Amino acid sequence: MSERSERTMSTHRYPASDREAIYRVIAERRDMRHFAGGEVDPETLQRLLAAAHRAPSVGMMQPWRFCRITDVRLRSSIGELVREETERTAEALGERGAEFSRLKVEGIADCAELLVVALTEDRERHIFGRRTMPQMDLASASCAIQNLWLAARAEGLGMGWVSLFDPERLAELLGFPVGAEPIAVLCLGPVDEFYARPMLEETGWTTALPLDELLAENGWPADGVPTTTPSA
Ligand SMILES: Cc1cc2nc3c(=O)[nH]c(=O)nc-3n(C[C@H](O)[C@H](O)[C@H](O)COP(=O)(O)O)c2cc1C
Repeated sequence: MSERSERTMSTHRYPASDREAIYRVIAERRDMRHFAGGEVDPETLQRLLAAAHRAPSVGMMQPWRFCRITDVRLRSSIGELVREETERTAEALGERGAEFSRLKVEGIADCAELLVVALTEDRERHIFGRRTMPQMDLASASCAIQNLWLAARAEGLGMGWVSLFDPERLAELLGFPVGAEPIAVLCLGPVDEFYARPMLEETGWTTALPLDELLAENGWPADGVPTTTPSA
């Protein structure tokens, strides 16, 4: 590295302990499906949502909308939508369907807080950065969810991203305007312990790929890119 690069980097670098904390939270964030009930105090929830809201977004469109579910009947209806889609997914998975059915894929009944994240309606008017890739709105909202996920882990709270639902039915259930699209049901709250490894690995569903197999220079990896265990 050049002397100049070294100098400018060290000017802006965080202290070692801060850097370690960042890498640690990234490594120790887990998708959680087992929760210990309880609650999330309002100040912490506000901090988490503010962290989500600081996310980058294409053309600064801030497409995310957060809906906090506090009505127990709504929570139970969302749980039902997820159960239905989980069954359909098991059917669609063919020979791995029975194995899939044994996985725990959500913690809706036990988490302290349930949040639905949606893309706002009327996204078509945002063209900056989306003309050729309209899905950059989803990418932006995903950045917000990742912020929330990492901040929650640092606060000692678990979070699980549930995407097993029919977005149109969930939008209808929550009275969202036409064009608004739910992308996540987030289970958030205290957990007894964090999984040491991704649960899909712990249960033998799949194995994560090492970074070096996914990294290439000036093109695609010569041997092609391997994939994780196919679902079916
Ligand atoms: C966009 C997205 C949707 C997901 N949807 C679900 C889901 O519906 N149910 C589930 O159990 N896990 C879901 N996950 C969690 C993944 O299974 C999990 O991130 C992956 O297995 C790696 O584990 P880790 O997050 O603990 O590192 C989702 C993750 C992402 C990023």
